Amino acid sequence: EIAPLVEDELQRWLPGSGGEPSRLSEAMRYATLDGGERLRPGLLLASCEFVGGNRQLAMPAAAAIECIHSYSLVHDDLPAMDDDELRRGRPSCHVAFDEAMAILAGDALLTHAFQILARAYATETELCRDLVCELAGAAGSGGMVGGQALDMGSSGGRTESSLEKLHGLKTGALITAACRMGALVGRADENSLLAVTRFGRALGLAFQIADDLLDVEGSRADLGKTPGKDEQGGKLTYPALLGMEGARRRADELVREAEAAVSEGGGAESSLVAIARFCVERTG
Ligand code: IPE
Ligand code: IPE
Ligand code: MG
Ligand code: MG
Ligand code: MG
Repeated sequence: EIAPLVEDELQRWLPGSGGEPSRLSEAMRYATLDGGERLRPGLLLASCEFVGGNRQLAMPAAAAIECIHSYSLVHDDLPAMDDDELRRGRPSCHVAFDEAMAILAGDALLTHAFQILARAYATETELCRDLVCELAGAAGSGGMVGGQALDMGSSGGRTESSLEKLHGLKTGALITAACRMGALVGRADENSLLAVTRFGRALGLAFQIADDLLDVEGSRADLGKTPGKDEQGGKLTYPALLGMEGARRRADELVREAEAAVSEGGGAESSLVAIARFCVERTG
């Protein structure tokens, strides 16, 4: 339901198809438009509605976080990282363009996200500041990029706590930020902000476990990306550590934890819960 709205919002903020420099603009659009589940924007909007906010006001923030996520995928697929040639059912950005352009498109999308926030929320200075802080913290070395660095080394020992830290940063941070940014736009009180934060942390881990399970069991056609990459890359994952059944149980447990976090105040009927279930039940 929200995917077409997110698409329109991204179209609104991205450089147009005639943008300059043209190959860079094309690569940015290629990496972002017409693809993905739009999970983070969906969570952001659902979280805004959960705290009683107006979805329309949250649309630019939803586009901003999707720019960061899309950039993270472009860089994740680079030969120096996971070296993956398929993403969202089509050639990865560096295959469709070239490595230099993929690096630059990632750089530009990262920067663009903050320009969207600064422009869209310019008249609401405190909200603007809070959104920028939230997204920067979740995207940077204390969040997604930090997690990617751990993932590249897998050097923290093969224990459940080092795995939880890695996943919490590489995937959990942006998912939690999506929930918190939606709540901030919706002017949530302390309690609701805490509830969506707990929800996001649990769901972030559950989502990455599902991604790891699909990497083992999913097909190239269903996933739109190359399965088997984690084992090939010697990655530290839940299936590698706990086995498939153990990982599945842990994901279910975490989704129940996420649901419990928002179950007060009408959360049970919230789209947050529907999205949480989708995250672990999905097949692609
Ligand atoms: C994949 O995320 C990468 C991870 C952080 C695990 P998604 O599965 O949300 O990617 P898209 O947006 O649907 O392509
Ligand atoms: C990607 O994790 C996480 C980020 C891009 C931050 P993975 O490397 O497991 O994701 P996929 O499986 O390539 O989508
Ligand atoms: Mg990776
Ligand atoms: Mg990868
Ligand atoms: Mg994966």
